[in-house]
Amino acid sequence: MDKLVISGGNPLVGRVKISGAKNAALPLMAATLLTRGKNRLANVPNLRDVRTMGRLLTTLGAKVNTRTDRIYIDTGGADGDEAPYELVKTMRASVLVLGPLVARRGVARVSLPGGCAIGERPIDQHLKGLEAMGCKVKLEGGYVLAEAKRLKGADIAMDLVTVTGTENLVMAACLAKGTSIIRNAAREPEVVDLCNALSEAGAEIRGAGTGTITIQGVKELAPLDHRVMPDRIEAGTYMAAAGITRGELTIVDAPLEHLTSVVGKLKEAGIRFQPTPKGLVVSARRAPRPVSIITGPYPGFPTDLQAQLMALMCLNSGSAVFQETIFENRFMHVSELRRLGAEIEVTGSTAVVKGVRGLKGAQVMATDLRASACLVLAALAAEGETHISRVYHLDRGYESIDQKLTSAGATVRREAEAGP
Ligand code: EPZ
Repeated sequence: MDKLVISGGNPLVGRVKISGAKNAALPLMAATLLTRGKNRLANVPNLRDVRTMGRLLTTLGAKVNTRTDRIYIDTGGADGDEAPYELVKTMRASVLVLGPLVARRGVARVSLPGGCAIGERPIDQHLKGLEAMGCKVKLEGGYVLAEAKRLKGADIAMDLVTVTGTENLVMAACLAKGTSIIRNAAREPEVVDLCNALSEAGAEIRGAGTGTITIQGVKELAPLDHRVMPDRIEAGTYMAAAGITRGELTIVDAPLEHLTSVVGKLKEAGIRFQPTPKGLVVSARRAPRPVSIITGPYPGFPTDLQAQLMALMCLNSGSAVFQETIFENRFMHVSELRRLGAEIEVTGSTAVVKGVRGLKGAQVMATDLRASACLVLAALAAEGETHISRVYHLDRGYESIDQKLTSAGATVRREAEAGP
């Protein structure tokens, strides 16, 4: 396992380019199972989770080749129908093969993903939607067994907004017989990116990006050929990095149109944004003003940026309140931030961050993907050296983050970490 050693105190000044979105690339890769041919995805980020999804597709019989940021997935021989526990336990998003497998092959055996650090994360809504489409679903030995001769269109009202649940059901509905309506659908940009790619391949989808998505099933889809959208969560993370280090970062390919709620909060905190022909210049000169955050489904404030904003608010000039409404355990970063000198009180799903004058480097441990990004931000501002262990969490969702930060003036080195 590796750790990152960061010497804090340098304002970040320079240019970072935003990579393709992990949470768009993963469903897009799963969607290739709906087709029988040579699929191509461009602007795919080089991440641990993308490689895991590639391994899963290979297990299912697809041929997967990656060349720089392009991934070629030939599903002509993808005759497998089992997503094994060994792979699914390392990445929940593996559940995204469920819908495509049932739709394309009429059968799927997918290991239950199990919970993770941030919450139990059930998939009941995925299964309820598939059953509404005529799929027989059984749970056996930690696996979901799903079977359907041919899915039929259904009118599905989701009990709650679920991103991958919406994505699974959209993909399944593309090849179902008849029309499906998904109500209370997720509106995230990554859902829209998936729907766009499916439509380009011949799917008939209306309402992507709204709470009601209508899909007219078709017999067949052409292979996907799509460019993955830029990663709004990565972009938001670097915006917070510019703010916490009181630097000036030019962020290239930031999908501003997907970050309205985030940019609004950062501006409230006093961070400045200047679009230029070279990219979006994000800068800060003083301690951030306190802003309060309530996470919610898109277009609300993204839960995936809650931890990063909390790092920024550790140095705010007052008190900031965070309410996490999506996941039941997404404050794992709080105890690690306290080790750096932050003053944070947590009551249930609410955290109150009392600003301090400065943070001090220490040894901390990453617990999940976005918590590790939060610790990187805090370390960049802390005085002295911070050692962040278990950075494999970070490598799941941030392409070349050490290189990107170093190129903007940060002092970051990656070291092998001894011991368990
Ligand atoms: C997606 O996860 C993202 N992952 C997550 O990003 C993101 O945090 C989350 O959406 C919320 O925006 C990918 O897209 C690969 P949900 P997902 O289903 O789809 C409950 C990251 O850091 N729920 O929208 O798994 C669930 O427990 C990751 O990149 C059910 O109860 O999240 C949660 O409380 C972390 N039953 C809430 O809904 C279900 O069947 C939202 O979960 C499904 C979900």
